[in-house]
Amino acid sequence: MKKSLIILSAVLLAACAPKGPRAIPADKEVEAKVEKVLKGMTLEEKAGQMVQLNISVLEDETREAIDPAKLDRIIGQYKVGSILNVMNDRCHSREVTAAMVRQIQEKSMEAIGIPCIYGLDMIHGASYLSDGSMYPQEINLAATFNREYARLMGRAMAYETRAAQVAWVFSPVMDLGRDPRWPRVWESYGEDPYLQAQMAREETLAIQGGDPNHIDLEHAAVSIKHFMGYGVPVSGKDRTPAIIAENDLREKFFAPFLACFRAGALTAMVNSASINGIPTHCNALLLSGWVKEQLGWDGMLVTDWADIDNLYKRDHVAADKYEAVEMGINAGIDMIMDPYDPECCNVIVELVKSGRISESRLNDAVRRVLRLKVRLGLFDKPNWDYAYPDFGSEKFARESYAAALESEVLLKNNGILPLKENASILVTGPNANSLRTLNGGWSYTWQGNADEYVPQYNTILEALQRRFPKVTYAPGITYLGNNWKARDWQDEDASGIDAAVKAARGADVIVACIGENTYCETPGNMDDLNLSAKQKELVRKLAATGKPVVLILNEGRPRLIGDIEPLAAAVVDVMLPSNFGADALAALLSGDENFSGKLPFTYSKHINALHTYDYKVTEHRETMAGSYNYDAVMDVQWPFGHGLSYTTFAYKNFVVSAENFKAGDVLTVSVDVTNTGDRSGKEAVLLYSSDLVASLIPDVKRLRGFEKISLEAGETKTVTFQLQASDLAFVGADGRWRLEEGDFRLSCGGQATQVHCTETKVWDTPNI
Ligand code: BGC
Repeated sequence: MKKSLIILSAVLLAACAPKGPRAIPADKEVEAKVEKVLKGMTLEEKAGQMVQLNISVLEDETREAIDPAKLDRIIGQYKVGSILNVMNDRCHSREVTAAMVRQIQEKSMEAIGIPCIYGLDMIHGASYLSDGSMYPQEINLAATFNREYARLMGRAMAYETRAAQVAWVFSPVMDLGRDPRWPRVWESYGEDPYLQAQMAREETLAIQGGDPNHIDLEHAAVSIKHFMGYGVPVSGKDRTPAIIAENDLREKFFAPFLACFRAGALTAMVNSASINGIPTHCNALLLSGWVKEQLGWDGMLVTDWADIDNLYKRDHVAADKYEAVEMGINAGIDMIMDPYDPECCNVIVELVKSGRISESRLNDAVRRVLRLKVRLGLFDKPNWDYAYPDFGSEKFARESYAAALESEVLLKNNGILPLKENASILVTGPNANSLRTLNGGWSYTWQGNADEYVPQYNTILEALQRRFPKVTYAPGITYLGNNWKARDWQDEDASGIDAAVKAARGADVIVACIGENTYCETPGNMDDLNLSAKQKELVRKLAATGKPVVLILNEGRPRLIGDIEPLAAAVVDVMLPSNFGADALAALLSGDENFSGKLPFTYSKHINALHTYDYKVTEHRETMAGSYNYDAVMDVQWPFGHGLSYTTFAYKNFVVSAENFKAGDVLTVSVDVTNTGDRSGKEAVLLYSSDLVASLIPDVKRLRGFEKISLEAGETKTVTFQLQASDLAFVGADGRWRLEEGDFRLSCGGQATQVHCTETKVWDTPNI
């Protein structure tokens, strides 16, 4: 089995030429330093650099500090080059984290003379530091359609991570969330490749700073993840196989990674699952071919958690550990995250000695690890003394609040919102009094536990109590689960429903906070995308009182509510807005602030109809003439890009600079947007294109540009986009990019115009 995979990969690899330009320019000094260090290394030291272990292998028995004897063994004896994670699945303060990393660095310099690289899952800000700053999750930042927030979060994340003596974050996440059943939808920037690419690129630049060869003490290395196609498992369950057509892989799934590689991303983490039957960790075509060969990328590829072992333990493409390590490293893996097993170092040594891994592949991988460490300045300063006055600052808190404000999406409003000042409000639902659910997973702990760490921030209940004079609370339902091993996050106690209904009778309006408890990765798998039956029952019974119900959806993925949505007077999806999300919501519900978020995903209505906005034109068509009906219906709850405001916007004068164009042209597209309501507001202006006739069935539309603008009542602004004609190309059945002669429709805010491409161009290079 192993041999056939490798042969297949080699054939496909050969088909990938020609090579593209270097993704990161080489720096002579960096390379000289790498060569110098490499020359002096033993085989054992080289193998150690290629292995990353979890911090638990260094914990003492209190599980709160490092055991020096274990340090001697792991760093001194095995010469392991990288450590990850937080101790005991509990985050620490900056000070405690820094002290631990310092200890590891000192040992590493003394025993190997090479600094260790420590990596942390900083997912939405410094999510693994108890005193750091947190921002809304990426799915929320996507809903702002405002690149600035990806930049601000990336900047703060790098700064605060560095403040804890750590120089590597496993962020940004850029798995396209194109299957709402998947439990990691909320970790990335939504379903659209362009939005995802733009936001992730901005975050990458902000985390690393301007020069990837010289990262300063306020910036860190990214690990863009999970390369790639991880977000569309056929089963909807985490870490299970995906089937993706090669043209889709190139055109959509690769797009955000390509943007980040080109922006200088220094490392990438590999998709834990498989595509078209090939586990990504041994997919030489993707790892060595698309990334290293075609992009000339000299960065480092790290595995995901225990995924080399998964090649034999789970995927059955390798017979044993030796074969698995051989396959992974020969496919292009440079560092193995083998969380608990330093023996992996010896396996690498033996494989090199027996010739199953060549010296040149070994040296290439080690060079990439060393290059990362040199670029981060870790050789010069394995530990650093530097002031970080903005750590945990008000400044970062204000940014987080502003991002939350722009991210919460008003999906429906029959006029009940803004809430009246003196209304008597019943706050109910399992998400009403929880910080944990506002933050989601990767918040202080893996599965998320904000309530324990940061009780100082407001829950929705608390924020509404501060803003409105008459607020009562009856939860109706509470989440029971807190134990990820038991996968009990879905368990609910609904014994309070009657009490909540009774309280509703005395209220003017009901604010029902529903959705999901926190989860992360595989423990978040589930069997029904519908909102839980108990929560639906709560909403039905509340609505039966005749009092208006405002639904607040606090959830990591769009749980289906098609049957209860008609019962709601208003619906707001706050997703996972983090520590200031409730304050933002109170300001929005009261009308102190205006909504401006838009959905970065399609909100589906029916369980058998889970779609993305860029569906194929054939998926929605009129009834055919004649006696048979071959129609197709696209019926979603709310489309991608949907989001209401307390004001209204009118679009006019949609103009394109040329009617006819060729592949090398740039089209200037402009539109006037007027705030036609009586209060100020922000609007995300979205530009779409549609290829009207193509050699493959075209997508109905594709997002090609977005800008967020702010308009006072009555004000008009002209928004201008520079659209590269090549952006309208697609990947054909032969895997090559093509822009075909014919008509395209451009549209924006209900305005549309048609333009014509006068010649067909097919690119020779794999990327454009
Ligand atoms: C996740 C990654 C994460 C890694 C290290 C894995 O289980 O898939 O996203 O970076 O663990 O914690």
